[in-house]
Amino acid sequence: MNSKINNKGFVKEQYKDDTGLLIRKKIHEKYSANKQGFGNWLFEIIDLPSEGRILELGSGNGDFWFNNFHQLNDSVQLTVSDFSNGMVGKMKKKFEDLDVTVRQIDIQEIPFDDNSFDVIIANAMLYHVPDMEKALAEVNRVLKPNGKFYTSTFGENGLSSFISTSLSEVGVRVSEESNYTFTLQNGSKLLSNHFGEVERLDYEDSLLVTKVQDLVDYIFSMTSMNGLTSENYDQIYEFFEKKMQSEGVIEIPKEYGSFISMK
Ligand SMILES: C[S@@+](CC[C@H](N)C(=O)[O-])C[C@H]1O[C@@H](n2cnc3c(N)ncnc32)[C@H](O)[C@@H]1O
Repeated sequence: MNSKINNKGFVKEQYKDDTGLLIRKKIHEKYSANKQGFGNWLFEIIDLPSEGRILELGSGNGDFWFNNFHQLNDSVQLTVSDFSNGMVGKMKKKFEDLDVTVRQIDIQEIPFDDNSFDVIIANAMLYHVPDMEKALAEVNRVLKPNGKFYTSTFGENGLSSFISTSLSEVGVRVSEESNYTFTLQNGSKLLSNHFGEVERLDYEDSLLVTKVQDLVDYIFSMTSMNGLTSENYDQIYEFFEKKMQSEGVIEIPKEYGSFISMK
């Protein structure tokens, strides 16, 4: 499917550094009803090996493992990676004092031997990949026979659907369906083409936003993807300001979860 969400140029532009990512993380940290936090939940569902190798793909700024590295046994070897230069640079700095390998890797061409990893993780990134079949075949190839592949994503009835509906009420059209390249709804089917066992786990949550600026910053942190321009800014701000005044709080559904796959 052709869309900006999995167009290499747009994705590279979006993730040349972690500015947008940090803005989007902030809204979840500040306003999520579920105080466990999605990252903590994602870590909790991982069946950590006591030895062996872990590979994370599309690690972004590396926070997932930076926050959890201390929970790993010394005999586990961790590799974090991303295809963006900027993210790899951030991670090299972040992990310089830790025994972690940082690599620049495109999930569609993983530079490791067959059956190399006990655990592979790809959080919130598969929907950006142009050739899903190639990416999943690569993950399957480098995963050990009893290894597990964990991949989180969003659902079709959560935050992004709320934003598209709100923007269309403002009169701004952003395409939504074409962003659904890998969701909680279609992920099982896509993964089942490559893995024998696929399990879906859902994380219950919603956002209770009390400051319009944070929501507008979130929406405008993705302009290279959603095509919004500064001309739309005031309209969008006013729309949410009115909503906030009439409702006191803007409640936004969240639909996030993860798949656990085995060969
Ligand atoms: C939404 S961010 C998620 C970052 C991190 N996993 C997290 O959950 O915070 C998506 C990341 O995937 C990376 N990415 C996109 N396409 C990729 C590809 N084909 N191979 C490897 N990384 C990719 C981007 O550079 C970006 O850092």
